[in-house]
Amino acid sequence: MNYLPADTRYDSMRYNRCGRSGLLLPAISLGLWYNFGGVDPLENARAMLHRAFDLGITHFDLANNYGPPPGSAEENFGQIFKQDFACYRDELIISSKAGYLMWPGPYGEWGSRKYLVASLDQSLKRMGLDYVDIFYSHRPDPNTPMEETMSALDYIVRSGRALYVGISTYDPEQTRQAAKLLRELGTPCLIHQPRYNMFDRWIEAGLLDTLAEEGIGCICFSPLAQGILTDKYLDKVPEDSRAAKYEGQLHWGDRVVEERLAKVRKLQGIAQARGQSLAQLAVAWVLRHPGVTSALIGASRVSQIEELVATLKHLDFSADELQAVEQILVG
Ligand SMILES: NC(=O)c1ccc[n+]([C@@H]2O[C@H](COP(=O)([O-])OP(=O)(O)OC[C@H]3O[C@@H](n4cnc5c(N)ncnc54)[C@H](OP(=O)(O)O)[C@@H]3O)[C@@H](O)[C@H]2O)c1
Repeated sequence: MNYLPADTRYDSMRYNRCGRSGLLLPAISLGLWYNFGGVDPLENARAMLHRAFDLGITHFDLANNYGPPPGSAEENFGQIFKQDFACYRDELIISSKAGYLMWPGPYGEWGSRKYLVASLDQSLKRMGLDYVDIFYSHRPDPNTPMEETMSALDYIVRSGRALYVGISTYDPEQTRQAAKLLRELGTPCLIHQPRYNMFDRWIEAGLLDTLAEEGIGCICFSPLAQGILTDKYLDKVPEDSRAAKYEGQLHWGDRVVEERLAKVRKLQGIAQARGQSLAQLAVAWVLRHPGVTSALIGASRVSQIEELVATLKHLDFSADELQAVEQILVG
């Protein structure tokens, strides 16, 4: 059956300006890192993309290596896009990235012009797109001059392969350098994509200030710490969870995870008092910072997307609530 998006899709989502650009992004964006790959049921991926778009999520985030296997999330997305979303291309912000290992040999990872351009061409082919809206350097490359990586990003925009460019996991100094180079080339850095959640707050120590000064937007990945900041792991590790399926990914059994779960238990009281789930509290907490443009969530089922989008009904925090969260996190 053909997919017809909901007429109400723009009624409740909040759209935030991305840095000092003309682009608005949804406060909640959907990433396709897990659960959209070749090992996952395509119909579930399709249902999640439909529901997300129906709820006003206009931004889908991909990368060359998402799967598993690497590349398969883009292939699946391409198939669903062609079938259901092609007529809505102008309502969508689709991103991809290159930086991590994608193919063997010296040109299959990091930040050379050779790799970035070839990788994006492969991504476009897999997704069946003429262009992506945002293309990222997925990680800084210590061995390639920053000038080369940034000039490749500039070329990618000028050649029509991407409308905007961004960087991911660059530290504040690298971000300043990249922003300066891109500005000089005439292709501003639109966005930075760092990890940010209650357990990983590195961006508060400089990066958020740098982004504000440079006029760069900020889309924060793993706002739920891959699911730890929910109630799903409080009793056991459910079989269908990311921790069970990809054990190494969450360092399960690790002392750090145990300490985090102890904090999650305490956070539950605050979430309940706010009339929210833990997951909603975690997303609202990320979005409380005025420098955060969008929370980039992941999901394994439609109901998770619905729950997380409902966070937008209650984003405000009182000073007391913030203080109580802080005490738990630093305690
Ligand atoms: N730039 C980078 O280097 C980088 C790195 C990582 C991620 N990312 C991007 O960020 C996106 C999001 O990352 P992430 O998947 O780690 O984000 P996340 O939102 O922290 O974690 C998503 C996982 O949490 C669980 N979850 C979601 N909603 C839930 C709910 N309401 N209740 C209980 N559990 C819930 C699901 O796990 P289950 O599968 O267990 O249900 C879901 O797959 C990625 O898709 C990718 O686009 C970028």
